[in-house]
Amino acid sequence: MKRRLIVPIAVALLISACAESDPSVDDPGAETTAPGTSTSLAEATTTTTTTTRPPTAITDRLGLGDSRYPALGNGGYDVDHYTVDLTFDPDTDSINALVMIEATATEPMDTFSLDFLGFEITTLRVNETTADAKRVDGELIIEAPTTLQPGDAFTTTIGYNGTPQPIISEALPFPIGWFEDSNGVAYVVAEPDGGRSWLPLNDHPSDKATYTFLVTVPEPLVAAANGTWVERITDLGWSTWVWESRDPMASYLATVVIGELEIVEDAAATAIAGVPVRNVLPPELAAAQPAALGKQGEMIQFFSELFGPYPFEAYGIAVVSEFPAALENQTLSIFGRDLVDAPAFFETVLVHELAHQWFGNSVTPADWGDIWLNEGFATYAEWLWIEHTRGEAALQATVSGERNQLALSADLPPPGNPPADDLFNASVYVWGGLTLHALRVEIGDEAFFETLRRYFATNRDSVVTTSDFVAVAEEVSGMDLNGLFDSWLYGDTVPELPTSAN
Ligand code: TRP
Ligand code: ZN
Repeated sequence: MKRRLIVPIAVALLISACAESDPSVDDPGAETTAPGTSTSLAEATTTTTTTTRPPTAITDRLGLGDSRYPALGNGGYDVDHYTVDLTFDPDTDSINALVMIEATATEPMDTFSLDFLGFEITTLRVNETTADAKRVDGELIIEAPTTLQPGDAFTTTIGYNGTPQPIISEALPFPIGWFEDSNGVAYVVAEPDGGRSWLPLNDHPSDKATYTFLVTVPEPLVAAANGTWVERITDLGWSTWVWESRDPMASYLATVVIGELEIVEDAAATAIAGVPVRNVLPPELAAAQPAALGKQGEMIQFFSELFGPYPFEAYGIAVVSEFPAALENQTLSIFGRDLVDAPAFFETVLVHELAHQWFGNSVTPADWGDIWLNEGFATYAEWLWIEHTRGEAALQATVSGERNQLALSADLPPPGNPPADDLFNASVYVWGGLTLHALRVEIGDEAFFETLRRYFATNRDSVVTTSDFVAVAEEVSGMDLNGLFDSWLYGDTVPELPTSAN
């Protein structure tokens, strides 16, 4: 279904961003080889287009028509790879960045947009030609030097500098994006739409891409990002930390963590998990690691057996201060220190963020309205860990306790219809988790776990809707499950839990 776009009318035409190229900033494309996805400029420009079509209107492409946030993301192209070359200066809390975006046009267009807020733009090129742009409502609207045709690969290079700030999101009661804690640790927690606080991007989960990060910081600071740490290049007291995220990633999961930190390899967890496990920790935690952190290897092993193999090249957490939550950034979840210091709860949240690597990060909702596919699944994974470590009675007690607790809260929206101004409400977590339990009781353990495995296997590195999950459950169980999902996901009150037939 194609939804009509609701795009606010342009109010302010702010800048013309077509400043001269800044010769002090190197082109990241010249010094790194993007993994597999890069199309050379020569290839891009020699592509023969048999038919040239007139450009479509930019006003139809300023958003992707998400059911909660219609203006998020941009149409007309798919991003293949982002190269983020960023220098952080802790003395001024500022960044100087050059971002190269390799994309493929899907519509004829002479103008296209990116989601981006703030900063002074110093360089803007499309296919190495200086381009003009204006800013309208959190979008950067760029004039391509020539009309791009569907299938054309093109490269957009944006240089900018300034002090990044967290942004206010409609979705959450607290700011998101780029933060700095009182120890001077800078980090990004962007879900769902805070990515534009530090990067120009196509900020919607339906456009996954691979990423290269080159983060330059003064010694002895450490810079971590998503994926695999490839190398560190040191020059005159500054180090460039190179990270490759080779698996496709939704933009809301992109992160950096910079500060007086240590990258701590967990050899025991790596051996059990079968993927490199490394955590990014402040020195005192690196020296004395909390016990629950040592269980990540077993957790990865447990969920790999239950859901299918761990989907990415590495895993671990980064710990920062004064952040009262955790976020499942791909391959590198970020945890606030308060969570780490709350022993029982820390283990639960470790399980939750890990489970998101399968459900949310590898298999990703194509629309924010289906956020229960992330949070309901990660919450149910917590309960599966309880069952695994404490037995079936503990699971039953948890499930009925959560059901009763939930029934007490009046006016909760059902998990399948979360309000845009409270996307991460309790319902998408708990009612969403209970929905999976109700399904399990209805179709039995064997069909239920086969459903989870098949849903993951067929959709990894991809995007889905609720109906994709329902279809797998119906296919595996051979049952008509529309009634169950309708009442659990879209009904006004929490249904009674069916009683176990197992
Ligand atoms: N997805 C997070 C979780 O694991 C919740 C969340 C959404 C969040 N947006 C955030 C946490 C931004 C911190 C910052 O449940
Ligand atoms: Zn979650």
